[in-house]
Amino acid sequence: MRVIVCKDPAEMAVRAADLVVAEIKKHCNPVLGLATGSTPIPLYKELIRRHKEKGLDFSTCISFNLDEYVGLPVNHPESYRRFMNENLFNHININIKNTHVPDGTLTDFDAIDEFCEKYEERIADVGGIDIQILGIGANGHIGFNEPGSSIGSLTRIKTLTSKTRQDNARFFNNNIDEVPKYAITMGIGTIMNARKVILLANGENKADAVAAALEGPVTAMCPASALQMHRYATYIIDRPAASKLKLETYERG
Ligand code: PGA
Repeated sequence: MRVIVCKDPAEMAVRAADLVVAEIKKHCNPVLGLATGSTPIPLYKELIRRHKEKGLDFSTCISFNLDEYVGLPVNHPESYRRFMNENLFNHININIKNTHVPDGTLTDFDAIDEFCEKYEERIADVGGIDIQILGIGANGHIGFNEPGSSIGSLTRIKTLTSKTRQDNARFFNNNIDEVPKYAITMGIGTIMNARKVILLANGENKADAVAAALEGPVTAMCPASALQMHRYATYIIDRPAASKLKLETYERG
């Protein structure tokens, strides 16, 4: 596992963008796994900048997002489809038809199960994910794979923990009751199947989760720790997020 400790989120964005761009240039139809949340926003800004200033071409890219809340209309300010359109897709030349975000408008559990199976099939049909971007929750979650999620899990519906709903209440008028209770998320197994993975984390509130994921045991209680078993996982983190790491062998920017 490669761990790059950067001086700030701006440097993280540049280092992560370099890895994403290398994949885009390497494949005829690059398949990008994308994440929402505040952490990847500087990366998306950097990719948009390279598109606008350097002609970085997304026209052949295909994307799959990690997760989506269940029960929010697509145009809800907090839907992840809307987040992706506003923070990335509307500013680059990706074909919107080639962007996939789990369908959070489904409410029937059978229809959700069927959707999740198809989502996995679609990923497989395009040859799998070349590079997956991840954030990490303060509880160690990746996507909405909360602690206790099976390490082999595939895309499915998950119940959000009260910790995650509390953390995300800031986007819902600080009212936890407005935060959806369920989400559709790629599984840990789906993420592990990506050929490369980049996990981004910044800020001191992620330091415990980063230390547990990198230096603790591989356990379903810290879903990000599964990446210890991944062949090409790169952590790109800032100094506060790295502040509880003990090993001295990490790359420091
Ligand atoms: P954040 O979320 O980027 O908003 O901190 C990360 C996550 O919960 O996976």
